[in-house]
Amino acid sequence: MRLVVATKNRNKLREFRQILGEGFEVVGMDELGIDAEIVEDADTFEGNALKKATEIARLCGFTTVADDSGICVEALSGAPGVYSARYSGEGATDLSNNLKLLREMEGQENRNAKFVCAIAVVFPDGTNKILKGELHGVIDFEMKGENGFGYDVLFYLPEYKMTTAQLPPDLKNKISHRAKALGLLKEFLSHTGK
Ligand code: IMP
Repeated sequence: MRLVVATKNRNKLREFRQILGEGFEVVGMDELGIDAEIVEDADTFEGNALKKATEIARLCGFTTVADDSGICVEALSGAPGVYSARYSGEGATDLSNNLKLLREMEGQENRNAKFVCAIAVVFPDGTNKILKGELHGVIDFEMKGENGFGYDVLFYLPEYKMTTAQLPPDLKNKISHRAKALGLLKEFLSHTGK
C-alpha cells in the first residue's frame, strides 16, 4: 500500500521504510512536491500528529501518516513535552535544551522521564487512528554519549546502564518510542482492509 509520510526529513523516511518493510510504498512530501509548513500548535503529541497527517492527507489524497515526539519529565510536570524541540526558546539547539534541562533538574530527587512518540494515520475517507509508543528512563546528571540526537545524551536507561546516546544506534532503533509506535502502526495497517 502507498503511505505518505508528512515529513521532509530523509532520516525519518528511512526509519519508516525500515520498520514497515515490504508491502508499503513509503513516500515523503518532497517526492510529491508538497511544500506545506504545518504549525505544531496543539498541546498534545497526538494533536500535533493528527493535525499534520490531516492537512497533508487533504493535500495529496492518499493515506498519510505523521508523527510527533518529545521528552516528558515527571518532576517538571511533563515538561518539556510538546515543546521539546524549542525548550530553551528561540534558536534552541540540542545543547542549549540539554543545559536547560540539567538546570531545571538541579536538586530534583525524582528523575523519571519518558520519550513519547504519537503517530497518526489519516485515510482518504477522513477516518483516522493514533498509535503511541513510550520509552521510560531517568534524567542523568551529566551528558554522556555521542550517538543519537536531542535529549539522548541525558536519557539514562537503568536496564542498559547507559544513556540512549551511548546505546548502539541499531539497538536504540529497536527499543525506542518511535520503533514501538511504528510497530503498532504496522500491525494496525496489516489488519485494516483500507
Ligand atoms: P519532532 O517529533 O521531530 O518534533 O521532535 C521533537 C523533539 O523531541 C526533538 O527535537 C528532540 O529534542 C526530542 N526527541 C524526540 N525523540 C527523541 C529521541 O529519540 N532522542 C532524543 N530526543 C528526542
